[in-house]
Amino acid sequence: MSTQTDTRKKVTVRQLAEMKQAKQKIACLTAYDASFARLLENAGVDVVLVGDSLGMVIQGEETTLPVSVEDMLYHTQCVAKGLNDSLLITDMPFLSFTSEEEAVLNAGLFMKQGGAHMVKLEGGVDQADTVAALNKNGIPVCAHLGLQPQYVHKIGGYRVQGRDDAAAEKMLADALTLQDAGADLMLLECVPASLAAKITDALEIPVIGIGAGIDCDGQILVLYDILDISLGLRPKFSKNFMTDVHGIEEAIKQYVSEVKSSKFPSMEHAFN
Ligand code: KIV
Repeated sequence: MSTQTDTRKKVTVRQLAEMKQAKQKIACLTAYDASFARLLENAGVDVVLVGDSLGMVIQGEETTLPVSVEDMLYHTQCVAKGLNDSLLITDMPFLSFTSEEEAVLNAGLFMKQGGAHMVKLEGGVDQADTVAALNKNGIPVCAHLGLQPQYVHKIGGYRVQGRDDAAAEKMLADALTLQDAGADLMLLECVPASLAAKITDALEIPVIGIGAGIDCDGQILVLYDILDISLGLRPKFSKNFMTDVHGIEEAIKQYVSEVKSSKFPSMEHAFN
């Protein structure tokens, strides 16, 4: 779509890096269709993620595991049609990057046929070679550390990660390795605020937090959570932005404004 009237420049990997340097917070949200994507962009959202959370909020599944490459491609195509300027990231779904070849092939689909500008994948140092292979082929990568919902059965539930010293040290080491492998962005989910601050400080690439405290370079939430549309409990780290506003558009603008001014997240949304 090209009917947007504002004059904002396209958000690029380079611009995100400059925002980190300039200490300007990066506002990110998930979206799964063109109409919401357009609303997000017009509200000033810098980065739009087609998250595999669509398995839960769109498809009504209990986890993200059933989401397929075809599902992600379809929703990426929808979202891309709603965007002009925001950077579009697509999640690599469960078991879509079991080898470097498979990762490049599927990420390539999201970029060539979907219109994504970057892919996100869960995993630590074990994924460094995959990140390097994507990087080598010109595919920007957002690495995802902390709580990795695709490992829910391995870790036995959705819980805060990196609470003991060994796990915290490993997460920092993983983050540095993934950056060295070529990751352009880092996402930290459900990580103690002090550890997230340490990782954000140690990395040159921007760090986006969800349940990771105020000191990350940017924030992301699941769109449906901020709009109070939920099939279950809203997580502690999220916030209902519909309470003091007149509609969805205002709620999204409020989210952007609170992220940019460091009002969100507050202590009540963070973990120790
Ligand atoms: O799938 C998703 O929406 C995500 C966010 C929770 C960051 O990964």
